[in-house]
Amino acid sequence: MDEKLKAFYELYERRKSVREFSDAAISAEVLSRLLMTLNRAPSAANRQPWHFIVVEKKGREGLNALLTKEGFRNAPVIIAACADPHLAWVRRTDKVNYSWVDAAIAVTEMIGAATAEGVGSCWIAAIDAEAVKAVLGIPAHIEVVGLIALGYPLEELKKENKARKPLTEIVHYGKW
Ligand SMILES: Cc1cc2nc3c(=O)[nH]c(=O)nc-3n(C[C@H](O)[C@H](O)[C@H](O)COP(=O)(O)O)c2cc1C
Repeated sequence: MDEKLKAFYELYERRKSVREFSDAAISAEVLSRLLMTLNRAPSAANRQPWHFIVVEKKGREGLNALLTKEGFRNAPVIIAACADPHLAWVRRTDKVNYSWVDAAIAVTEMIGAATAEGVGSCWIAAIDAEAVKAVLGIPAHIEVVGLIALGYPLEELKKENKARKPLTEIVHYGKW
């Protein structure tokens, strides 16, 4: 495998959920690169049924009060990933609305880029979504998919062996 390809795959080994952040800020330049990946993400029928609210640490008392882990309150940036189900593509055969899938894909793209930048991240789904909506002024018809904490990890991101199911348990060839 050539070096560039190796470096790319190593990203997946370095990424982990980061719940303790240093006080270092994320520069405007880095943040704008991360936001670009959200905008570049694929979505069903290219509907882009999403909104992302960037909440920096200063003045974040209201949102911080809703977070269950102290480490998240120290993250320099928290992004609220929101879905607009009214804009999303809906699968005709079973009426499944893809807004959450699309929003999650965009976040995943951003998390990959964050890892490459050395920025740690953690999805936070364990929230009171209605309370988050109230604090951030999110319109009633919009759904909060999750919060993403971003910041430089206290411990450097390095290759880790994660507890995962064996591939043979989850990958099926040909049929289930
Ligand atoms: C959709 C989603 C929601 C999550 N919600 C939370 C959360 O509310 N709080 C938390 O501490 N971690 C949360 N996590 C992080 C997971 O616990 C973590 O991804 C999992 O344990 C695997 O560990 P790793 O990310 O370090 O590989 C969430 C992850 C995902 C993908």
